[in-house]
Amino acid sequence: MSKVVIMDHPLLKHKISLLRDERTGTRDFRVLVEEIAMLMGYEALRDLPTEEVMVKSPVSESMQPMLSGKKLAVVPILRAGLGMVNGILALVPSAKVGHIGLYRDEVTHKPHEYFCKLPENIDERLVILPDPMLATGGSAVTAVDFIKQKGCKNIKFMCIIAAPEGLEALKAAHPDIDIYVGSLDERLNDNAYIIPGLGDAGDRIFGTL
Ligand code: PRP
Ligand code: URA
Repeated sequence: MSKVVIMDHPLLKHKISLLRDERTGTRDFRVLVEEIAMLMGYEALRDLPTEEVMVKSPVSESMQPMLSGKKLAVVPILRAGLGMVNGILALVPSAKVGHIGLYRDEVTHKPHEYFCKLPENIDERLVILPDPMLATGGSAVTAVDFIKQKGCKNIKFMCIIAAPEGLEALKAAHPDIDIYVGSLDERLNDNAYIIPGLGDAGDRIFGTL
């Protein structure tokens, strides 16, 4: 069964509200996306395994928990997922980074793949898949299909804003992954944009409006 976590931290809510504001310019938008990704990553990585190791402090030796060296990969869905990578890497700097390039057809809203490069031994890694927007769910479902075909079993999808339609589609297609959502919004409009949403995440991150 999917674990779905809808974040409810006030700091996160505040930052997502700033992100939605049409007056938030590219520079601030990028900073906010990174900060939000770090706060969400903190929650998503809460179940990382630890092991007891001997630590010598200035006054004594004791067994203390350290991360058990589980291999991690961050695989953003291009373009907009790129904006979340550095926030996650701030928490796990040695994680490998892959890329999956998908764009939504403006008319059909179906995802098209144009790029994929994944770290070696991807099947042995915990894969964090960030994308700011989960709208129809088509892109996320395709990206998870893809990394599952490469043998990945341990997958966490992270989005800043989800539409109920997209969340249901992702849960139905991939009931075995964990899903972290910054805000669950109301609905999709006729153009498959999230309402209230924040507009086109990629355009706002990269200033291509
Ligand atoms: C956006 C967003 C998701 C996708 C969500 O990307 O970053 O990848 O749309 O929509 P869906 O759930 O209906 O598939 P877009 O296709 O606009 O590409 P971009 O990131 O390059 O702007
Ligand atoms: N992609 C976006 O960037 N925004 C939406 O609202 C939907 C899809």
